[in-house]
Amino acid sequence: MDKIKLAIGSDHGGWELKQYIGRLLTEWGYEYEDMGTSTAVAVDYPDYGRKVVAAILNGQVERGILVCGTGIGMSIVANKYPGIRAALCHNEFTARMSREHNNANVLVMGGRVIDQATAATILRVWLETEFAQGRHALRLGKIAQIEREINS
Ligand code: RB5
Repeated sequence: MDKIKLAIGSDHGGWELKQYIGRLLTEWGYEYEDMGTSTAVAVDYPDYGRKVVAAILNGQVERGILVCGTGIGMSIVANKYPGIRAALCHNEFTARMSREHNNANVLVMGGRVIDQATAATILRVWLETEFAQGRHALRLGKIAQIEREINS
């Protein structure tokens, strides 16, 4: 099976972890677009969150990875967009559930919360776990219905 294409992005609080994630993705044979930021200079996380989300919504990539200091700001930004299911993951269990149960298309991590080894485990599991479908698909359908109601 072909590997999915990804977009990654961060603010300064997640920059170091994003660089590490980029290196892991290359090592594991994944293609990705790096939407910035590209230095440790302070920037505003919504500017980078929206770029990764846009790449998913316009079909350029299949899934995205966002990192800020806590992961909270990026989660708030990404989940503003209908069709985006962004999951802030702190460990292997939440990473697996975010794919199996929520079909998360954006993985969010906190660069000031988890260490590199934990991030690598989360990333690997999140990339390799499939959506379980069934009752979970029904629930995602209800989320899509909420999105339609909000936008009508
Ligand atoms: C930046 O200082 C910090 O607020 C940001 O990285 C993030 O944690 C926001 O949620």
